[in-house]
Amino acid sequence: MILILSNKYDIAVDYVVRVLSKKKIDFLRINTEDLIDKKVSVSFPNFSYIITKKGMRYNLENRLQSVWFRRPGKPFEFTLEENRPRKSVITFVEDQWHAFIEGLKSIENVFWINDPDKNRAAENKIYQLKLAQKIGLQIPKTCITNDKEEIMNFLEQCGGKIVAKALYSPLIEEESKDYFIFTNIIESVKEIPECEFQLAPMIFQELLKEKVDYRLTIVGDECFPVKVVRESDRGVAEDWRIIKDGLKFVPCELPKDITDKCVEFVKKLGLVFGAIDLVKSFDKFYFLEINPNGEWAWLQKEAGLPIAETIVDYLVNGGIT
Ligand SMILES: Nc1ncnc2c1ncn2[C@@H]1O[C@H](COP(=O)(O)OP(=O)(O)OP(=O)(O)O)[C@@H](O)[C@H]1O
Ligand SMILES: [Mg+2]
Repeated sequence: MILILSNKYDIAVDYVVRVLSKKKIDFLRINTEDLIDKKVSVSFPNFSYIITKKGMRYNLENRLQSVWFRRPGKPFEFTLEENRPRKSVITFVEDQWHAFIEGLKSIENVFWINDPDKNRAAENKIYQLKLAQKIGLQIPKTCITNDKEEIMNFLEQCGGKIVAKALYSPLIEEESKDYFIFTNIIESVKEIPECEFQLAPMIFQELLKEKVDYRLTIVGDECFPVKVVRESDRGVAEDWRIIKDGLKFVPCELPKDITDKCVEFVKKLGLVFGAIDLVKSFDKFYFLEINPNGEWAWLQKEAGLPIAETIVDYLVNGGIT
């Protein structure tokens, strides 16, 4: 059996479920935020790992073949504010379910897309850049710091223009509104007080000029590259995520040397799936980052790429295709 762990709003899962159903493959989808409404039990000494859904008892210990660890939801995540318990209780409950879910790794001979531990490690951008460079991918000149003087020196080294981006999640969640840190171009930092930089390290990079963005989605050995262009087929000078209309994701070819290195990179991270952001600047490809659990449903829809089908193939064949 194939187990899918995600949340009820995950469209990528809907695509995969459609393929699994069409092919009549045995699977169980758990939207993990709903586990608080389900019955589960793990027993010893005769090891069993049971989840009950719609009155059916699934003993995963003897049935589980593959897990697609997508975006597990958290208990109470989608519960109305007034029906939620106290924050402390929520955290406690979340932690218990987290342990229950990750305990699935104790079931032997199961194929994971992706192993949650590897996902976590791969999310670190310093680790990513170091490994990408080691594999021979070109990376932009980079300085990760909270030191204003370092930033000023780096700015000068880079000819007076750099970009700044978040080292970890770019999301700032306020009570009334969420904020997202996009990539910003910086030409001067003199006027910004030192204490603002001091708060937390950020990534500063040389500005890649005349850039064209590429998103390379990888499933095992399969590569799905798309080029991010405007309607006019030009690349996007700024952070493409701020552009609301007229963006196209066009399936394309990348040099084999680049795709080979990216596939190797994903494997070295211990992942099966990875969504890599690349940039081409003056005929050179640069590695920007990998999202170990990046979004791809929109690529299946808009660019017609068979990513769901490929994920299903890997889940069914346990990585042997
Ligand atoms: N060194 C750079 N020079 C020019 N543009 C850049 C540079 N780094 C990132 N960008 C642009 O910023 C956008 C986001 O890039 P990137 O994926 O590196 O950012 P991020 O904040 O790490 O993203 P994520 O939120 O996906 O983790 C892309 O459009 C990319 O082209
Ligand atoms: Mg990105």
